[in-house]
Amino acid sequence: MSGLHVGLIGATGLVGRTMLAVLEHSSLPVARLSAAASPRSEGTAVTFRGRPVTVQRVEALMEDLPDLILMSAGGDVSGRWAPEFARKKVYVIDNSSRWRMTEGVPLVVPEVNASVLKAEHYLIANPNCSTIQLMVPLAVIHRLYGIRRVYVSTYQAVSGSGWKGLAQLSDELAGRPPRVRAYDRPIAGNCLPYCGEEADDGFTTEEWKLIRESRKILGLPELEVMPHAVRVPVEVGHSEAVTVETHRPVDLGRLRAALQESPGIVLAEQAPTPKDAAGRDAVFVGRIRRHPFTECGLMCWIVADNLRKGAAANAVQIAEYLYRRQWLPIPPPSESDHGNQ
Ligand SMILES: NC(=O)c1ccc[n+]([C@@H]2O[C@H](COP(=O)([O-])OP(=O)(O)OC[C@H]3O[C@@H](n4cnc5c(N)ncnc54)[C@H](OP(=O)(O)O)[C@@H]3O)[C@@H](O)[C@H]2O)c1
Repeated sequence: MSGLHVGLIGATGLVGRTMLAVLEHSSLPVARLSAAASPRSEGTAVTFRGRPVTVQRVEALMEDLPDLILMSAGGDVSGRWAPEFARKKVYVIDNSSRWRMTEGVPLVVPEVNASVLKAEHYLIANPNCSTIQLMVPLAVIHRLYGIRRVYVSTYQAVSGSGWKGLAQLSDELAGRPPRVRAYDRPIAGNCLPYCGEEADDGFTTEEWKLIRESRKILGLPELEVMPHAVRVPVEVGHSEAVTVETHRPVDLGRLRAALQESPGIVLAEQAPTPKDAAGRDAVFVGRIRRHPFTECGLMCWIVADNLRKGAAANAVQIAEYLYRRQWLPIPPPSESDHGNQ
């Protein structure tokens, strides 16, 4: 059977394993999957479509080039390998922060700005998980009313810190000394009012990602984003309390209708929680209400699965876009093929 050869770098990690699950249900015709991780995992296996796939070193993928690479192995690995694959005209969709703000590298949330992609963009960056879920409804608000200013407080799950975050939480909950530490202070029964490293200005790396990436994705270089990122003892699913100030008065009925019709959004009757979003690809929006002091604004609550829409699902959606545009080497099925399925 003809189809795509997909390479997954970081296949043993939380995002990599979620990629495997998302790929199984995607519209991409994956004929072959190559898995890579660090030398520690060489020779182990991950499971794809019920079958074991042996984990290799990244170098092995260079010798047997895939058609598409999904990369989630941290910034150093992306810095080293993404340009090498891209130079060989292999599309790379990278989950790390390494290339996100690089000029000429598109930073893409498909529902929002897939139109920036061009066939010659072989290196494509997936935004930060907190940014992705914020962008999907914010783009709708911007289209209707023009966004001036955004205040966002995040409540970020420990899986956002990779397997170490989950391990520290589960050990602490079990009353064991943590095997590894993702955080310098206890996370069970606690919340840590910072995510990532603190810079000299008092903001954290995660907060600066929210500011810079939002501006790039929405094409609003002056957008005022006021973030406060907090780590909470939740396994999966980031939540965000958001206040938006707009240029034009907001009609909440019209906004709700627009959100309901927008792809990738679930407008929740009841306030959505991380447990509602876990394992699903949509961005959940709830508690939409008027800004208490101006008609040009609103407040809401946004939740999504950080491993799926915040990482793996968004990356696979970008790949599906490349496939639909016929930029991947396997052309998508024609209308008549659909009729025969
Ligand atoms: N977790 C999230 O919610 C989330 C969301 C958006 C973006 N991201 C980004 O996605 C990336 C992966 O995150 P994660 O949560 O999956 O982390 P993780 O669970 O810690 O997994 C890290 C992965 O990277 C691999 N790796 C480490 N060093 C490597 C090397 N030298 N060469 C090749 N592979 C190497 C690991 O392989 P071994 O198992 O062999 O060590 C593992 O597969 C990070 O850049 C992260 O910032 C994560």
